[in-house]
Amino acid sequence: MDYTKVADKKELMPNTMKLVVVGDKEVLLANLDGAYYAIANKCTHLGGSLVKGTLEGGIVTCPKHKAQFDVKTGEALAEAKIGFIKMKVKDEASYEVKIDGDNILIGLP
Ligand code: FES
Repeated sequence: MDYTKVADKKELMPNTMKLVVVGDKEVLLANLDGAYYAIANKCTHLGGSLVKGTLEGGIVTCPKHKAQFDVKTGEALAEAKIGFIKMKVKDEASYEVKIDGDNILIGLP
């Protein structure tokens, strides 16, 4: 697997998210109390940018229709909602994160 440096640790305060681009992939990088995680940024519902949503307790909520994902695994935890209609969403891809000194690296298959 190839690892690519995507950020310095100091760019990502605890409990914040950042959009990084690796090749042609948009990746949401998150710092959860000093541990780093990476999942695909594009919502599996209708493509909302997850990094524009919220991160609380390790759960990312999509800004568009409120689907929720576990930032550690990419697992879908809550359905998207449009009005009274709820729609199942697929899990997000998740990526390996490696720390090398102050550098944050992501491994893409
Ligand atoms: S685009 Fe994310 S919930 Fe609809």
